[in-house]
Amino acid sequence: MSDAWLSRPDLLRTEGFIAGRWEESDTRYDVLNPATGACLARVTQHGAEAATRAVDAASAALAAWSATTASERAAILRRWHELVLESAEDLARLMTAEQGKPLAEARGEVAYAASFLLWFAEEARRVYGSVIPGNAPTRRLTVIRQPVGVVAAITPWNFPAAMITRKVAPALAVGCTVVLKPSELTPLSALALAHLGAEAGVPPGVFNVVSGEAPAIGEVLTGDPRVRKFSFTGSTAVGKMLAAKCMATVKRVSLELGGNAPFIVFDDADIDAAVSGAIASKFRNSGQTCVCANRFLVQDGIYDRFAAALARKVGMLNAGDGLAGASDQGPLINAAAVAKVERHCADAVERGARILARGQVSGPPEGHFARATLLVDVAPDALLVREETFGPLAGLIRFDHEEEAIRLANDTPAGLAAYLFTADHSRATRVSEALEYGMVGLNTGLISTEVAPFGGIKESGFGREGSQFGIDDYVSIKLVVAEIAPA
Ligand code: SIN
Repeated sequence: MSDAWLSRPDLLRTEGFIAGRWEESDTRYDVLNPATGACLARVTQHGAEAATRAVDAASAALAAWSATTASERAAILRRWHELVLESAEDLARLMTAEQGKPLAEARGEVAYAASFLLWFAEEARRVYGSVIPGNAPTRRLTVIRQPVGVVAAITPWNFPAAMITRKVAPALAVGCTVVLKPSELTPLSALALAHLGAEAGVPPGVFNVVSGEAPAIGEVLTGDPRVRKFSFTGSTAVGKMLAAKCMATVKRVSLELGGNAPFIVFDDADIDAAVSGAIASKFRNSGQTCVCANRFLVQDGIYDRFAAALARKVGMLNAGDGLAGASDQGPLINAAAVAKVERHCADAVERGARILARGQVSGPPEGHFARATLLVDVAPDALLVREETFGPLAGLIRFDHEEEAIRLANDTPAGLAAYLFTADHSRATRVSEALEYGMVGLNTGLISTEVAPFGGIKESGFGREGSQFGIDDYVSIKLVVAEIAPA
């Protein structure tokens, strides 16, 4: 595909980025547009050797980068933020082309991605230590927070830019260096970000990107003892496997894994707010977010009215090619994702669910489109209740009382995000506290922002990204115990 669709064609990079240089390899792979099946670019297929060189580069750059002042690092991150915003339209177009989300959503993600660069530029100067009252007259105890070292990050295809800056910005802010492996399905956003980072003044070796053979690169990033911190966003199965490998060299690990978000609507909820929240939470990114509502638990007294109101909205959703014109939804990432949605839908229907509404598809037949679908009377043991669907399929389950809602909501190994809609302040407090999740949306379907800690509990992982807490995963705490001579 030609790059004439970008106002800065140089943002379409197809090489790896190691030690500040763009690197080719003998082999390349196709990056496809999921809306049309067209090949967007042939990207360098890097493997273990390139990944090792990227770790070499990050190790070599570490001492000088961690010796810079917080203000110097902050200035570079701030400049990177400005450059991302200046190229926002190009970055959004690249993202829609490789990931599929509608252009309006892609613009939103670029702004979201940029927000982490600015937030952590500001946080860079607040990495405070502490002084502990001595345990003896001649003792002085000081705690300092130091960069953890070389960081390896593996990021997913559903947010091709924001999941990168959410890890890379705090790492760079505190003085770490990074090797990134973006999803091989969406490397173009990552490479464009690296290009802008270099332009902003990120020194060679401080931020490296290798894309290609995922298992081979993963082996290096989890196995190389020089990598001291590993951060992963992706599926629970892969996260568990990678985390286990990291333990051989006892790396610091953070994992942002799959969810199975309950969306609870109580009888006293504002029905319009609950429907808007449901659309935002369930159908954002065509249902391909870890925090998407996955199960709608709706109380008996409001069930039919909520179902009817949500059905009207779902029936109006149109999935199309995000670059070809306005659409509410884009395609799913690939054919397997569409097949999973169809399997979950068929399974629920087999167990007694009814299809109450379906949206439209206006995208080309080559695209991986799935119609937005609303199911009612879903059985509690249906696949879509037990597994993360990761697509535009909403299933409603009826409940009678508060304890039952809490029990159903917590009946999963996942613990990332949960939502509840109620007008009763006491119930809101009780239920928010009882939900076993890292994040709770109360009368809202949108919870993500750079200023708040994002992350889960249970099998959804550990570690927090964004906010003041997002720094913690990239620093080690060092205690200095000083024995001083008595007067
Ligand atoms: C995710 O799906 O992992 C991220 C979603 C978000 O940041 O809102």
